[in-house]
Amino acid sequence: MAEEYIGVLDSGVGGLSVLSELIKVMPEGRFLYFGDTKNMPYGTKTPDEIYSYTKNILNFFIEKNVKNVVFACNTTSAVVYDRLSEEFKNNLKIFPLIQTVAKKASENLKDNDTIAILATRATINSKKYEIEIKKYNPKINVLGIDCTGFVEIVENRLYDDEKSFNLIKAKMDIVKKSGAKKVVLGCTHYPYLIDIFKKINSNVEYFNPAGCLAQIVKENTAIIADNKGEIKFYVSKNPDEFKKSAKIFFDIKDDIELV
Ligand code: DGL
Repeated sequence: MAEEYIGVLDSGVGGLSVLSELIKVMPEGRFLYFGDTKNMPYGTKTPDEIYSYTKNILNFFIEKNVKNVVFACNTTSAVVYDRLSEEFKNNLKIFPLIQTVAKKASENLKDNDTIAILATRATINSKKYEIEIKKYNPKINVLGIDCTGFVEIVENRLYDDEKSFNLIKAKMDIVKKSGAKKVVLGCTHYPYLIDIFKKINSNVEYFNPAGCLAQIVKENTAIIADNKGEIKFYVSKNPDEFKKSAKIFFDIKDDIELV
């Protein structure tokens, strides 16, 4: 019988912040990770472009005998999950980020508290976090902050550049001014930047949705008892750069397949 895999997708290394949590709770899982580095960043692309990139990855996963897919990407969850989960419903179960973690994000917040969402432009424009969080408490203020440029800092490892610091500082100043109690890392690339965020603003709770998503994936997927943990990595461009940028979450020793 062919091995059954869980597919994990993102535009680049961001989804590794989710994969690392998946492995913690499902050490016996078999995972295929796809980083669409050729089309990264997704956050500044149109919905039709994001749809077409993601659909290609889903078809690739089906060829590889994937049955469950984790959208380790807020942008795809925000923009194309509804459409693709319907189109692929006979072949794949898809776990989206935002819809799965919104309840947890809304916890410990009272009426009129503010929660800030740091995310890509496409995610902010979709208002998906706001819609989903307000299902649990319509009186929470949801402040979306477009953090275009953060993904490139991570993919290109520009952590020490002054320009990067200034861009991040400008966004953190918006958070500070808003009096937000909680900040959602609403793009899976942003956990790579958490030390910089905390250095600028440590007086706020940072919520990384990855752990919550991983737990829900575990609870809703059947792992075959004799599975030994395994991960295979695929990218659509520059496997060597991917390896270097991945380092914060994964020291990848094996070859990464270019597809
Ligand atoms: N890491 C993804 C997200 O969570 C995509 C970022 C991008 O490529 O713009 O939104």
